[in-house]
Formats: sequence, C-alpha cells, structure tokens
Amino acid sequence: MSKVPKIAVIGSNMIDLITNIHRMPMQGETVEAPDFDLGFGGKGANQAVAAAKLGAEVVMVTKVGDDMFGRGVKENFASFGIDITYVETAPGVTNGVAPIFVDRDGNNSILIVKGANEHLRPEDVDKARDKVLGSDFILLQLEVPLETVYRAIEFGVENSIPVILNPAPARPLDFEYVKKVSVFVPNEVELQMITDMPTSTMEEVQKAGESLLERGVKTVLVTLGARGALLLQDGHCELFPAVKVSPKDTTGAGDAFIGSFAYYYALTGDIAQAVKIANHYAALSTLNTGTQKAFYSREEFDRARAGLAKE
Ligand code: RIB
Repeated sequence: MSKVPKIAVIGSNMIDLITNIHRMPMQGETVEAPDFDLGFGGKGANQAVAAAKLGAEVVMVTKVGDDMFGRGVKENFASFGIDITYVETAPGVTNGVAPIFVDRDGNNSILIVKGANEHLRPEDVDKARDKVLGSDFILLQLEVPLETVYRAIEFGVENSIPVILNPAPARPLDFEYVKKVSVFVPNEVELQMITDMPTSTMEEVQKAGESLLERGVKTVLVTLGARGALLLQDGHCELFPAVKVSPKDTTGAGDAFIGSFAYYYALTGDIAQAVKIANHYAALSTLNTGTQKAFYSREEFDRARAGLAKE
C-alpha cells in the first residue's frame, strides 16, 4: 500500500465574501457588481483542504469564531476528514472574514479581518503536540500572530518535522526563525516586500531569492502565477513553467499549489517532481470560481492531468 502523507497545518481560516466586479467604486461612488458568493477560505484552511482532498491525513490547528461562521468552518474541515481536535472556538470573538474582489480576468484583491485567528497562541502549538508529532510537514502562513508562527517553527525543529513557511501576507520577519524552515514559499510580491528588492523580471526574482539563501534559508520556492515557480537551493536555480490555462478565478491558487506541493513532496520525497505536479494542481484550481470549492480531489486531478497530457 502506498504511503499516506501526514500534514499538520497551524494557521488561519476565514469565511470568504467573494464579489465579482467590473471595477472598484471610487470614493463616494456606488457601483453595481454582477455576482457574489460565500466560501470557506483562509490560507491555512485552503492549504489543509487541498492536501486533504488529495488524500493526506491532515491535522488543523486553528481558532474559529464564536458565531455561525465558526461553526460552519469546523463542519467544513470535518467534511474533508480533517482532524479538528484542535480547531477551537475563541469565546466571544467573531470568525475571520475575507472580502475578496474578482475582476473580469479572474484577478483578485483581498482584504482580511483576522478575528479569531488573532487568538491562536504559541501555547496552542504545544497543546496540539500529540496530533502534530509524526507529521511529514508542518505548514505555516502569516495570518496568525507571529509568535505562534515562530513557536511552530521551533516545535518543528525540536521534533525533526520539516516546516514549509508561506510568508503570506508578507510582514517583516525574524530570520533567526526563517532560516530554520525547510522550504520558504513566497510569491513574487511577498518576496519583494521581504527582501526589499525588485522582483518584476525573472533575473530580479532570482537575485532576490538568492539573497534569502545568503541569509541562511535552505530552500526558496517562489510562486510566480502564470510564469510558474522558481526553485532555489544548493546553489541551483530552476524555473518550472506553469501549465497554460484560461483562468476564471485565481483566488487560492497559491494555496492550492502549497497544499499539493506538501502532499506530493511527502509522497515522493522528490522536490522537483512535487513542484511540477503542484503547478498542474494550482492551474486546474483556477478553472472554477471560489477557493476551496475549486480544488480537485485526487481522482478528479488524476483524470484532468491525463487529459492535459493528451492535449
Ligand atoms: O489565499 C487566498 C485566501 O487569502 C482567501 O481564501 C482569503 O481567505 C485569504 O486568506
């Protein structure tokens, strides 16, 4: 029987308020928008759901709100078989929400109101110890307090669990912790903000990525949307081109990439192979609207990949 990857996600969850727009209103203006949808989101939750849909055993450590959104989020995790032992309710606090605006080309702009996510504390990492131990990877993002992210990195180091850190949304970081993670996965905007270096051209992305290696980060994997993903490690740099599709909605594509990357890296032990497959998974996730509901199950993904290979 083949291995079942085990992934622990210590991070955020949100309710996405997705509005399709033709254009943003100007100050004082009211503009009609064509469509609206509610969805389950949050970078941590999205990455957890992508890995679970592919077949990973997933443990989620997060805080939900003391409201109907929080109850829905918990049920949603459970519906994918995600372990919700440490999906706890923050008393008297609202759930995190994310108003998202998607334009006609499928590009998105996102606001986040962290709500209960701000209540995920470093001690919650240690509390979840029994469930997190034995994981192939710990997945982290930056929608929860930084102290919690740093404690989770330490926890990974203490227990020999490799950590994948997605520095989204970008914030100033303490590199004493960052250099302890196994794979650091920014997009080009986060890379620019964290390094304070330009990242418009591929050469600039490479230089900025290399500056992180110089600061002690072991492996940098930059997600570049339609341009693919750039992997930098051990003095090597390789571009993995994206799979060409006509996107309907790119929201959550980065999360689809990271959740599937963690799954396939754990499954194959081959980072290049995992990046290639994650490029496919992320591309397919843009063909439908919404975040988690646009993610493919393992069966759907295998079928779709076979179709793409024939084209
Ligand atoms: O990466 C996409 C996610 O960012 C959305 O689901 C939204 O909730 C924000 O966290």
